[in-house]
Amino acid sequence: MNIQGTPTRTIHARPDCSGVEIIDQTLLPHRLEFRTLHTLDDAAEAIAVMRVRGAPLIGATAAYGVALGLEDDAHDAALEAACARLLATRPTAVNLRWALERMQGVLVPLPAAQRRAAAWNEAAALADEDVALNQAIGRHGLALIRAHHERTARTVQVMTHCNAGWLATVDWGTALAPVYAAFEAGIPLHVWVSETRPRNQGAALTAWELAQHGVPHTVIADNAAGHLMQQGQVDLVIVGADRVAANGDVANKIGTYLKALAAHDNRVPFYAAVPGPTIDWRLANGSGIPIEERAAAEVTHIQGATDDGHVASVRLTPPQSRAANPAFDVTPARLVTGIITDRGVCPATAAGLAALYPEGGRA
Ligand code: MRU
Repeated sequence: MNIQGTPTRTIHARPDCSGVEIIDQTLLPHRLEFRTLHTLDDAAEAIAVMRVRGAPLIGATAAYGVALGLEDDAHDAALEAACARLLATRPTAVNLRWALERMQGVLVPLPAAQRRAAAWNEAAALADEDVALNQAIGRHGLALIRAHHERTARTVQVMTHCNAGWLATVDWGTALAPVYAAFEAGIPLHVWVSETRPRNQGAALTAWELAQHGVPHTVIADNAAGHLMQQGQVDLVIVGADRVAANGDVANKIGTYLKALAAHDNRVPFYAAVPGPTIDWRLANGSGIPIEERAAAEVTHIQGATDDGHVASVRLTPPQSRAANPAFDVTPARLVTGIITDRGVCPATAAGLAALYPEGGRA
């Protein structure tokens, strides 16, 4: 996607494999800074503190993290330790486990001397595939947006939550891929961006990337979403996912469930946009999805920029008040109108997903 008019990916290896370039997302939207990951520890830290975040980008960073981790020692114990270190960074996005298992599947059978080069190649292939999967999601979601526009001949009002855009993937995004595809196709549309407390990925990241690309959008407080749906100002909701169980239950950023409830009550179609690697075929339903509990400071404090551009964190709550910070929730499949995948749109059911991914149940 575009940054100041230049097409850019969120992650790439340096041509000589001396490091991996990322955008430090903790600084957006106030500062755009690229950062180089040189070591396994750099990659693990970047995932844990959310310099990179979003399920597909977490997976791609972990794959590159394995390559970085094998630079000094590519024997079995080092490979195993690198994967264990990366797997421990964040629990909810299944793309992390998926990427690490894919790397291990390719690397374990090879002699140690061949593993470094193979790891860089496999990480690059995984990143390229992420772009292709998201473009396919974009094409399938575009058909839904186009159909809506053809029915109403009005600007299509899409609501999204958190950031499941370009910044959450290697390129294009999942929930925002259909938005970008519709924008490129000239379909008039407008995006309601919910701020996504506590970390404000909507207000900080989704708004920033939509602005960079020139897509019309409006940021709203999370609590405004139900009201806008009730007022008929939302045509469809599209969110991303960190893990979808085999029955179509969707884990995504905290607050997604509330949006799904409001959408259901107001008969607003509610879609999750999901690439194949986000489906966890080992979980029959969403009750087993691990929900990350993050630091209370993300709730008690908020980060922003002063008018002179200084980025600061300020306290919101009384010092003696405790805060809880569950980072994800699970939306039951019955509230999900459909899942927009890289292979097409399907009902959020075991049969719907299995029809698109017949190999999935055997994974
Ligand atoms: O905590 P985050 O910012 O990593 O959470 C991101 C989300 O919840 C996204 O919606 C999800 O990962 C899908 S990204 C294409």
